[in-house]
Amino acid sequence: MKLPQSVNVLLLGSGGREHALAWKIAQSKRLAKLYIAPGNAGTKGCGINVDINPADFAIVKQFVLSNNVNLVVVGPEEPLVKGISDYFLNDSDIRNIPVIGPSMEGARLEGSKDFAKAFMMRHGIPTAAYRTFTRDTLEEGYAFLETLRPPYVLKADGLAAGKGVLIVDDPAQAKAELAEMLGGKFGHASQRVVIEEYLSGIEVSVFVATDGKGYKILPEAKDYKRIGEGDTGLNTGGMGAVSPVPFCDEAFMEKVRTRIVEPTVEGLKKEGIRYNGFLFIGLMNADGEPKVIEYNVRMGDPETEVVMPRITSDIIDLFEGIAFGSLGTKELTVRGETAVTVVCVSGGYPGEYEKGKIVEGLEEAAASGNSLIFHAGTGVQGRETVTAGGRVLAVTSFGETIGEAASRSYDAIEKIRYSGKYCRRDIGKDLEAR
Ligand code: AMP
Ligand code: GLY
Repeated sequence: MKLPQSVNVLLLGSGGREHALAWKIAQSKRLAKLYIAPGNAGTKGCGINVDINPADFAIVKQFVLSNNVNLVVVGPEEPLVKGISDYFLNDSDIRNIPVIGPSMEGARLEGSKDFAKAFMMRHGIPTAAYRTFTRDTLEEGYAFLETLRPPYVLKADGLAAGKGVLIVDDPAQAKAELAEMLGGKFGHASQRVVIEEYLSGIEVSVFVATDGKGYKILPEAKDYKRIGEGDTGLNTGGMGAVSPVPFCDEAFMEKVRTRIVEPTVEGLKKEGIRYNGFLFIGLMNADGEPKVIEYNVRMGDPETEVVMPRITSDIIDLFEGIAFGSLGTKELTVRGETAVTVVCVSGGYPGEYEKGKIVEGLEEAAASGNSLIFHAGTGVQGRETVTAGGRVLAVTSFGETIGEAASRSYDAIEKIRYSGKYCRRDIGKDLEAR
């Protein structure tokens, strides 16, 4: 099976990741119309924004049918964890319209940490040692903590808006946190808690496209999660990203491929778990040995803002391969230069912040031609672009070196003005020094 030569695409989501995907889809020779639901002020430049909640599947179906959509691409995890792919497959009206994203069962790799850990154990995939506890096994949880050395890693089993992982140094605090989590600190998400061994090393995000049979490894990226320079302060959705990552040399990536990517794709196949989409493997490089920290069943944000610009082959062709099991016949080509994205956030983020600040200087920032300005949390108010989220923009540039790419992004950011603008000034610095 194939997509029609000329494809109408519906992309679900509204962040920087979706703007980067929309930007890439808009360049495909095979695109007829691109709809983004709900999109942001930036995606308007790539297609048509439609005011639809991606988690409302009945409305998504209606839109798909009335607009002759041929392909649905899912940006965020929520619709996947809620089963959008199965919803399409189980409805004879829309069964033939492929959804890029795994089945609900496959999405459990992200939706349940316990499921993901047990999957890794079954398939011999390297990851931190762990045990899972519930309210009934709280005492055993305390005893398990006593067998570990600090720091202690406690993870809510379910989705907790990126806040469900706690890393604490003090054993008494670890016990107290465990009790609080099992007592409902993260609601349903922390009914079960995974306690795992702490891994030290450097993190990297590896992206895989799979059609359920084979796979292609996309460019990897390093994300900067903390709000403060030098990786200090609170965790955020991501403050910047770099691709390629210098320490991901051939030898390291070969370990990743044989020990992690292959057994993961094979494991899904063996267990009969339908997976046609992207898989994001969060890895720790512990002295050259890759170990899985987490799976996500979607692309990363802000990693997509460096990964998509590096891909030079047609993205709708790639989607076709993912959807119809023909990924092996598709070409994936990648630009060799380094891409760096720097995220500009609202003052106060990841805590409380104000929205609705007018954003100026976007055209000037793009005018040099050196940078791509991806919108993350923006909206339109009359004729103005305004801030509408914690992460506002992701500014991506290429360079021969990380430093060159980063300085081009910082030059563009200088030209952008909104009240409370903040970005980390050290994106990529740690990698340059290595
Ligand atoms: P997760 O949601 O599982 O990715 O966890 C969020 C963050 O916590 C990760 O990106 C890591 O920085 C950190 N983390 C999670 N698990 C571990 C671990 N076992 N050892 C060290 N750091 C971890
Ligand atoms: N950048 C990390 C994530 O997308 O989850």
